[in-house]
Amino acid sequence: MPFYSLKDFESFGDVAAEDDAVLEYFLSTKAVSRIEKREAFLVLGRKGTGKTAIVRYLTESKKSKLSKSLNLRGYPWKVHASRIDHGASDIEAYVSSWRYLIAVELAIMVASYNKDSPTNDTKLLSKFLTDNYGGNSPELSDILRPTKLKIEKFSLQPSIMGNQLGSVSLDREGAKDHKFGLELNALSKSIFDAVAKISTELRLGPLSLHFDELDQGLSEIESSRSKMLIGLILAARDIKREGNREFGAINPVVYLRTDLWDDLQFSDKNKISQSQTLHLGWNPESLLELIEARLRVKLKKKASWNNISEPALMRGSQSKWNHILARTFLRPRDVIQFLNIALKESKKRKVEPVVFSNKDIVNSRDEYSLYLKQELDDEIRPHWSYWDEALQTCSALSTIVFDRKSFEREYARRRTAANMLGSEKALSMLYRFSVIGYEKRSGYGGSSWAFQYTDPEAGWDNSANRFKVHLGLKEYAKLRENRG
Ligand SMILES: Nc1ncnc2c1ncn2[C@@H]1O[C@H](COP(=O)(O)OP(=O)(O)OP(=O)(O)O)[C@@H](O)[C@H]1O
Ligand SMILES: [Mg+2]
Repeated sequence: MPFYSLKDFESFGDVAAEDDAVLEYFLSTKAVSRIEKREAFLVLGRKGTGKTAIVRYLTESKKSKLSKSLNLRGYPWKVHASRIDHGASDIEAYVSSWRYLIAVELAIMVASYNKDSPTNDTKLLSKFLTDNYGGNSPELSDILRPTKLKIEKFSLQPSIMGNQLGSVSLDREGAKDHKFGLELNALSKSIFDAVAKISTELRLGPLSLHFDELDQGLSEIESSRSKMLIGLILAARDIKREGNREFGAINPVVYLRTDLWDDLQFSDKNKISQSQTLHLGWNPESLLELIEARLRVKLKKKASWNNISEPALMRGSQSKWNHILARTFLRPRDVIQFLNIALKESKKRKVEPVVFSNKDIVNSRDEYSLYLKQELDDEIRPHWSYWDEALQTCSALSTIVFDRKSFEREYARRRTAANMLGSEKALSMLYRFSVIGYEKRSGYGGSSWAFQYTDPEAGWDNSANRFKVHLGLKEYAKLRENRG
């Protein structure tokens, strides 16, 4: 294998799809084709597993005007929270407001599709949008903002039991008004009907909306936020089902962090996760493909991992690639981050050709470990802001493998009064985010480490006695290997 020097190779890409040139080397996985075939409307993945990358691929790379990304960063959740439907059950309190929001987004999409030769229905939708939002394409954050929606006579004509609505008030000033949902649903229905007519007339393809970054600005999970998330999921499911037709099939897709989904509780949850949900997952092979795709675009057409790394194995006869992967949660972001640090290390040596040596990999671990801790902060803090106390407990135990008794003892010393989790709950929480794994005994006297991210079927074992901290945290937590 010839070496290809990384001397002029800038980086393996940005760790966030927003800032990464991901479309130049996007890896189209099975998950992507399932979303394209409209087999799922809910896409779940941990942080850094590629949700935004998929959204960008499906909304930017194809020239389709009928696929739009809806980014909830900076979304006015407080405004939305006040658009509550007191006539619906607690869990469905936000379904009508999301239905309306989706209806408006579809109206924007089809109204702009044939701007130049508008049909009658297009004109009606444009008129509605302009009357209420001052233009044809309001921002996502403004859709629920008006206090009152005006509906002109002889236009969309929403009605309830034969009575036409002249307007729908969105701001009910705290009054527990049971008509809110009814009226808003009637308005949404007339918008959906107009969209369906236009779609059929113009023989449109599927209309896709991709909801991303639902976790932004989330420091803790309040109950109204959970209800709004559930409302969006239920609205998306219903609308997809109702809008399943030959032309202009409606395809809303919700991208959600797995940890947020795990905390939601509602009656159809199981059904949804079994049939119409996609879990983003990676393995050593697909991650290698992802990295090599970047090498081929940014370095040399035929470049592979072996062209940029020395063949010598690391301690324990481990390959460099496996050594790196063992420190990740098998997420693209972790791998890209590790390699960017290793690249810096490699260049520092000023030896040509610039390729990865074992030492570069070892020297990258400190900085990488800090990165991993910070990613975990983002994930765990909204659920448990005191998780540091548990990690500090692991540090105090000083070895990577520890037993339950020692953890209980040290945790009790460090746990502050405001930290609600006792040691048993703390351990299960650490397991949930794969900070630790537990020792699983097998029938033949052997044992293995069960981590949530590699072995999700194993489940948490409340009676486990021995635990192991994830290798990626070894440096941050200043842990050493156990002897023997
Ligand atoms: N299919 C893919 N092909 C190429 N690169 C990918 C792919 N999926 C993810 N990546 C890369 O992995 C990194 C993380 O992906 P991304 O930012 O999409 O994660 P995310 O799930 O949106 O994370 P977060 O929950 O933090 O928003 C980015 O650099 C992205 O470009
Ligand atoms: Mg993202």
